[in-house]
Amino acid sequence: MRTALLLAALAVCVTGACSYKVLCIFAAPAKSADHLAQGFVRALLKAGHEVTWATPHPEKKAPHQNLTLIDLKETRNSLAGVDMTRQQNTGIAAIRGYARNVSRTAADCPELRKALVEQQFDAVISTWFMNEYEAGYAAVQQVPWLLLSSVVIHPHLEAMVGQVHSIPSVPVMVNESDIPMSAWRRWLNGLIYMLMNIDGWFDVPRQAIIYEEIHAPLAAARGVPLPSYYDAVKNVSFLFVNSHESIAPALSLPPNVLNIAGYHIDDDPPPLPKDLQDLLDNSKNGVIYFSMGSVVQSAGLAETTRAGLLNIFAKLPYTVLWKFEEPLKDLPKNVHVRPWLPQPSILSHPNLRLFITHGGQLSCLEAIHAGVPMLAVPVFGDQPANAERARKLGYALTVDFHKNLVENLEVTLNEMLGNDTYYKRAKYLSKDVPS
Ligand SMILES: *[C@@H]1O[C@H](CO)[C@@H](O)[C@H](O)[C@H]1NC(C)=O
Ligand SMILES: *[C@@H]1O[C@H](CO)[C@@H](O)[C@H](O)[C@H]1NC(C)=O
Ligand SMILES: *[C@@H]1O[C@H](CO)[C@@H](O)[C@H](O)[C@H]1NC(C)=O
Ligand SMILES: *[C@@H]1O[C@H](CO)[C@@H](O)[C@H](O)[C@H]1NC(C)=O
Ligand SMILES: *[C@@H]1O[C@H](CO)[C@@H](O)[C@H](O)[C@H]1NC(C)=O
Repeated sequence: MRTALLLAALAVCVTGACSYKVLCIFAAPAKSADHLAQGFVRALLKAGHEVTWATPHPEKKAPHQNLTLIDLKETRNSLAGVDMTRQQNTGIAAIRGYARNVSRTAADCPELRKALVEQQFDAVISTWFMNEYEAGYAAVQQVPWLLLSSVVIHPHLEAMVGQVHSIPSVPVMVNESDIPMSAWRRWLNGLIYMLMNIDGWFDVPRQAIIYEEIHAPLAAARGVPLPSYYDAVKNVSFLFVNSHESIAPALSLPPNVLNIAGYHIDDDPPPLPKDLQDLLDNSKNGVIYFSMGSVVQSAGLAETTRAGLLNIFAKLPYTVLWKFEEPLKDLPKNVHVRPWLPQPSILSHPNLRLFITHGGQLSCLEAIHAGVPMLAVPVFGDQPANAERARKLGYALTVDFHKNLVENLEVTLNEMLGNDTYYKRAKYLSKDVPS
């Protein structure tokens, strides 16, 4: 169903024959971004389109007759070594800095430049990551630009598609609120909306400069005029948003905006490796799965926090499976760590009791899809807002990452394990999120 929607939407944008040449530029190096991209490319290939996919993770992609990969591995360096558990690394200016590094690094890739200059595509698809200047790729090709957002819709995206935000009725993404909002919250909502827009306006001249730097040479090489940044950035043919009415406030959207949350989720996740399958099968009391995602590394936690958490886990009658990037010494018997874990397959195991997570949008969707309650420890970006929405939906509780993490996590963990309200609510809601 999701696949059908995606393709119908694509067909609306690109009229003509039934097989198209699509250029996907998904430069963000995070693993989660790659999962979303994968869902997109899979659907395009299945429908018989020819896809050229510029990706930071080309090595693990299955070959396909109609798939050409462009290697953007270099962009992985722009985030490597940045510790996202440090607050100074997660401010809006810092995140814009990474986004810029990623975009410039991708734009320097000779293979991508060659494809843009020498080939003619029918559409260009890219992901929004504070990188509005990537509008230039479709402009240089003079074809429709399709945009994918990994997070729920927010004022920056709204400005691009001409969405008029209903300030009195819809809380803006970064500051979740009960609906209907009180008079004070409406006022605050308006203020936050305004500040985000002003922040966006201040950034426009810088975006325009990067746009020219990246795209003017490409346009010249193709012998086409480059539209102004201001025209190109408003020329979004279609916007796919990784959100859904069942998890975020319902709001009116322009007809070229579609919520597609859950589309990356496989209804039948791949089987677990034997060791994990045995471990989960044999954990009769239940399993707690702990992962801070791919950008925030558990290995970045302070030594005392690490020890404190292990201490809490040791006291539990459950198996704890922790995605931890380094080997850990002196592990309690019931705690198992791995540098990488197949999240969707773990979440769908019937013995899973609870998911301790950073509250990334994909993790929230996968948890709710599998009907697993969450204890969210949001760190930055959209995570606090995602966690807050999950709490309001009744299948999650949240704990502050930066203040007394160990103490608060213990209290909340015991609350959630001793009260099946959250578990039942997650199971109930799991019927709502599509895949
Ligand atoms: C590849 O694309 C062509 C159309 O260009 C289509 O006929 C063919 O079925 C596609 N191959 C696969 C394996 O999907
Ligand atoms: C971006 O990359 C440059 C050089 O590659 C580096 O000096 C700079 O620190 C990076 N900025 C961020 C915010 O990562
Ligand atoms: C806007 O997109 C259309 C394709 O959808 C393209 O033909 C047109 O040239 C674009 N205009 C600008 C200003 O980029
Ligand atoms: C929303 O804003 C209020 C007031 O500034 C703040 O107390 C609250 O933590 C914010 N909520 C989220 C989810 O950001
Ligand atoms: C369980 O949690 C729900 C939701 O927070 C709360 O309303 C209820 O009182 C709790 N039950 C017990 C026995 O603590």
